[in-house]
Amino acid sequence: MKIGIIGAGNIGGNLTRRLTALGHEVSVANSRGPHTLTQLAAETGATPVAVTEAARGAEVVVVTIPLNAVPGLPAGVLDGAADGLVVIDTNNYYPQQRDGRIAGIEDEGLTESRWIERQIGHPVVKAFNGTYAQDILDRPLPAGDPARTALPVAGDDEVAKAKIRALIDELGFDTVDAGGIDDSWRQQPDTPVYGLRAGVAEVTKALAEADPERPAAFRG
Ligand SMILES: NC(=O)c1ccc[n+]([C@@H]2O[C@H](COP(=O)([O-])OP(=O)(O)OC[C@H]3O[C@@H](n4cnc5c(N)ncnc54)[C@H](OP(=O)(O)O)[C@@H]3O)[C@@H](O)[C@H]2O)c1
Repeated sequence: MKIGIIGAGNIGGNLTRRLTALGHEVSVANSRGPHTLTQLAAETGATPVAVTEAARGAEVVVVTIPLNAVPGLPAGVLDGAADGLVVIDTNNYYPQQRDGRIAGIEDEGLTESRWIERQIGHPVVKAFNGTYAQDILDRPLPAGDPARTALPVAGDDEVAKAKIRALIDELGFDTVDAGGIDDSWRQQPDTPVYGLRAGVAEVTKALAEADPERPAAFRG
């Protein structure tokens, strides 16, 4: 599959490593330009590109940058993608440490992913947001292994969500359907499932136990 990755940090870098290892054709972009990604490219075989080129021809685009950088992505950043593009959103809102206060999330009560959809003008599938970046490299296991980690995946489009769940299975993780984007508060920071390293049953239970109230530590 042709996959574009916007963000080459902890998560974007490790997704680049694993997805190229699986044989996917990965284009990867950061904020400073492709000349700063030569090492990652040499290591993985991914193609370093400008952010405006990351989505070109891609079936899947991963947006994995600090949440407060999302509104600054260039207009038309997803133009030129393949038909049926699915966008994965891995991002989290850290108002006190990183992102500052975002009114759409705090005052309108939008989930973080719904807010991101409005910024980029495209639906998203929320995945990996509660996954430690290093676990993407360290914890893949074959399907059926009782120790396999499960990741929650939320999205409104069932076809898009199924596609991303299949990709995550290929990456070595089970998934749990966490509902639509309006339900995705269940996997935001400080919820029981956030950072949980467990299988399908425990992840399902943790999603059910989430509290819809935004925790004080994650209010701006
Ligand atoms: N770290 C984790 O374990 C983890 C786990 C789950 C979810 N997340 C979430 O996933 C997102 C990414 O986290 P991370 O830890 O991977 O971040 P990170 O290590 O800080 O990397 C951020 C990346 O985004 C790039 N970037 C920033 N602004 C950009 C822009 N305008 N256009 C293109 N690229 C841009 C940066 O490029 P430059 O270096 O060139 O500026 C860098 O490659 C965050 O929202 C985070 O909350 C992180």
